[in-house]
Amino acid sequence: MQSQIIGTGACIPDNIITNEALEKLVDTSDEWIVSRTGIRERRRINSNEASSDLAYTSAKRALKNAGLKPDQVDLILVATATPDMLFPSTACMVQGKLGLKNIPAFDLSAVCTGFIYGLATADAFIKSGVYKTILLVGVDTLTKFIDYKDRTTCVIFGDGAGAVVIKATKEKKGIIASKLYADGSKWDYIHLPGGGSRIPSYKSDRNTYYLKMKGNDTFKVAVRGLEQAIVTLLKQCCISTSDIDIVIPHQANIRIIEALARKLDYPMEKIFVNIQKYGNTSAASIPIAFDEAIKENRIKDGDIILMTAFGSGLTWGASLIRW
Ligand code: UT7
Repeated sequence: MQSQIIGTGACIPDNIITNEALEKLVDTSDEWIVSRTGIRERRRINSNEASSDLAYTSAKRALKNAGLKPDQVDLILVATATPDMLFPSTACMVQGKLGLKNIPAFDLSAVCTGFIYGLATADAFIKSGVYKTILLVGVDTLTKFIDYKDRTTCVIFGDGAGAVVIKATKEKKGIIASKLYADGSKWDYIHLPGGGSRIPSYKSDRNTYYLKMKGNDTFKVAVRGLEQAIVTLLKQCCISTSDIDIVIPHQANIRIIEALARKLDYPMEKIFVNIQKYGNTSAASIPIAFDEAIKENRIKDGDIILMTAFGSGLTWGASLIRW
């Protein structure tokens, strides 16, 4: 049994934050942001909305694209670091909005690597015969946890959601394999201290409520981690970089993507990049990019697709897909 992706969808908020708008809030410049990150603008969710709202819209679009009704789904997985609330899960919120009952729904927490962890989880459930049709959403609304006085983080992150429908098939198509990693000793590289059981909300001062990132330290380990995941996965699958038709990387920083291309000796033209429009949307970045790449006809029948991500945890990984 193979796990074939049969539909994709995305939901990106309308509200655009340009680099020029951020220049008015912090000591930064369009020139610094573009040259250091590749980002020109990012999107921000409305204050009365939450992750499950974006997730639900992306899920509906992916189901429509797959030609399925919600009641044909067996399992809902939501990869997110920004759930609507600590509990219940955002996956349960999405299930409720889709009008479904009696199917399991749960969240995965691997932050920016969440979508790759989700693909590997869905693939294992399908290949073991437990479920046949899985809805996987990657969603994050990190602008709700950003200090717009901190120039080292506020220029980076944006909001969005992307979804895929994955179905069991006997065809030779779908997820070939995934490779996942984590290093919890570096938990403090990117973290959000407040609101959990260590510093509950009632004890949180404003500062603990915001995302903290050791950007430069993360940058260095990110490039090494992505390369490790890709090289190991390709070796395991007996596939070489020249066999890969398109790479859909997590959109964290254009310089990370360029460094990876140099290390793998892989052409930048075959790497899908949309960071200039949305910034880093965490778990949503790969499914949003994937949906756009399909709509732009960048992916054709039989193509080998490589997806790869790195993020808080630390977590990182890669997935190979035959389209
Ligand atoms: O998605 C999850 C994984 N996350 C990542 O992979 C993030 C990886 N890290 C990065 O993308 C980069 O490290 C950043 C874009 C976050 C920062 O770029 P950098 O080239 O590593 O800059 P830096 O942190 O080394 O800072 C260089 C300088 C510093 O000034 P001084 O100390 O040299 O005077 C910063 O204070 O740039 C300054 N700086 C800024 N200047 C203008 C930091 N942020 C800004 C800013 N505008 N927004």
